[in-house]
Amino acid sequence: MSNSLDTLLSQGTEELRLVADEASLRSWQNRWFGKTGEISNALKRIAEIPAAERREYGQKANSIKEELQAAHDAALLTFREKALEEDLKKGSVDITLPGRRPAPGRLHPSTQTLRKILGIFGELGFEPFTSHEVEEDEVNFGLLNMPPHHPARDMWDTFHTTRPGWILRTHTSPGQIHAMRKAAPGPLRVVLPGMCYRYEQITSRSEIMFHQVEGLAVGEKVHLTDLKGILLAFIQRLFGDKRKIRLRSSYFPFTEPSMEVDMDCILCAGKGCSLCKKTGWLEILGAGMVHPTVLKNGGYNPETHSGFAFGLGVERIVMLLSGMDDIRQFWANDWRFLKQF
Ligand code: DAH
Repeated sequence: MSNSLDTLLSQGTEELRLVADEASLRSWQNRWFGKTGEISNALKRIAEIPAAERREYGQKANSIKEELQAAHDAALLTFREKALEEDLKKGSVDITLPGRRPAPGRLHPSTQTLRKILGIFGELGFEPFTSHEVEEDEVNFGLLNMPPHHPARDMWDTFHTTRPGWILRTHTSPGQIHAMRKAAPGPLRVVLPGMCYRYEQITSRSEIMFHQVEGLAVGEKVHLTDLKGILLAFIQRLFGDKRKIRLRSSYFPFTEPSMEVDMDCILCAGKGCSLCKKTGWLEILGAGMVHPTVLKNGGYNPETHSGFAFGLGVERIVMLLSGMDDIRQFWANDWRFLKQF
């Protein structure tokens, strides 16, 4: 049986030796490697080979196939090189023409700004901490002081998964619990970046996915003034050292007191314009002192430890910095939009 295979190899090689150019190489390839070519036929014959010899036959047929393929590739390369050489001799290839530049890739605007934000907080002593996007309901809400049916859960419309009790995180705040449990009872200063998801109608002002950066500091002597100082330093590094901030009382279940942080409008510097809707202020993030229950859930003793936390939306900051007015552009993947950054 392998006799017929032996002649196959010598016959193929012999025929290839007679091939003189790329065009005839193609017909050689068709005759040997085409659908009904010699090689396929030899492989098809495997069914007729007695079972005991089949394995040996198959191996041999495949090695012939590989050998002929390699001989073909080598021949092709030689023809191509020869053709190029002839072209060069004739001068039909202008080797002085500049090459085509590959289009450079670039980072998504959200990623650029996210990195800038993490860089600033790095300078201020905050280490990045990576949490996860698929989160337990209990961590996203429960341990953040929102037991089941707590009305504040309505602030975050939620995507559920098919696994009961697991959701797409609606904010980066559940990462606080993971970071605290890892560091307690030691001091902690982290920023938690990442994508968050909300089951909302998509409009020019709200998306179902967006990045947040959460900040968290816990220690024996962490005060509201520390929070204010850090946030002012951050805002001034990002938006310029003339910026002012103000803290407005607000409500979040996981902080007490809670506040909304505004900065004076970057366009009109507080005089009132269309960007700040005539108020002179732009809302920029949510913050507060970590609620004692949350500290306890993170493994700290709220009698001896305190902390501050804040959360900001990255896309909102990109929009402010760039003058964009439609958040839907972030995930539309329109190159004309993306290449502006
Ligand atoms: N998690 C809040 C949200 O998504 C933002 C936030 C507010 C985070 C206050 C905080 C905080 O850490 O202290 O709306």
